[in-house]
Amino acid sequence: MATNQPAIGIFDSGVGGLTVLRQIAQRLPSESLIYLGDTARVPYGTKSADTVIRYARSCAAILLEEGVKLLIVACNTASAFALDTLQADLDIPVIGVIEPGAVSALNTTRNRRIGVIGTAGTIGSGAYPDAIHAHAPDVEVFVQSCPLFVPLAEEGWTSGAAPRIIARTYLEPMIRQGVDTLVLGCTHYPLLHDAIAEVMGHSVALVDSAEATACAVEAILESMGIEADGEQPPGRRFLVTDAPDNFARIGRQFLGCDIGIVEWVDF
Ligand code: DGL
Repeated sequence: MATNQPAIGIFDSGVGGLTVLRQIAQRLPSESLIYLGDTARVPYGTKSADTVIRYARSCAAILLEEGVKLLIVACNTASAFALDTLQADLDIPVIGVIEPGAVSALNTTRNRRIGVIGTAGTIGSGAYPDAIHAHAPDVEVFVQSCPLFVPLAEEGWTSGAAPRIIARTYLEPMIRQGVDTLVLGCTHYPLLHDAIAEVMGHSVALVDSAEATACAVEAILESMGIEADGEQPPGRRFLVTDAPDNFARIGRQFLGCDIGIVEWVDF
């Protein structure tokens, strides 16, 4: 539904960022949201920093044309590589998912041993350990890239033997390190929450960066006095750079409900 109040822009490499939109919509139901999935160029998780920065800039440009008041970089890989560039380039607030996820992990851990899982790009960037250590240099951080989790989530293989075996293979070293908190540092991983929780055991808390980001966005809107006034129904639009039908089909499981119309945009 379209509306004339300025929207929050959210972008991701594809469908995964809908886990972030879902949290934002739950926490801030009066806000209009415009989501852009860069489905023509997904995945970002295997690409170089320079390439991800270039893609992130073009996603931001598309959403700025729509007049968004705040930009959320829902993709962990794009947050890891491109957040600083976008914050320097743009005149509106730009929020990534890594700092909120790092702070939430620090508020959760008791033994000060935190695990982080993400794409090869996010893990290779060191962005999560850097963000955690900026607040607490003494905390021990253990990282693991889990590339097979993305196709598992997109194929809907979120329960049963396959995700359990793959999760166990990836996560056993993390369990041996005795982490008590694990950051799900990728848009797709909340869909595998149950399989990951089962493998990690009930004493390990799972931190969803999407949830933490929604709280951070609420705080920024309030501090800047740019919240929606709630007088008009909020709008929701979904834009993609390729294959709108696929996005609508796969996105349903990420959003938890029908997406409706998906618009194709050129870039
Ligand atoms: N959205 C990406 C992330 O959160 C995962 C999918 C991809 O590799 O593009 O890092």
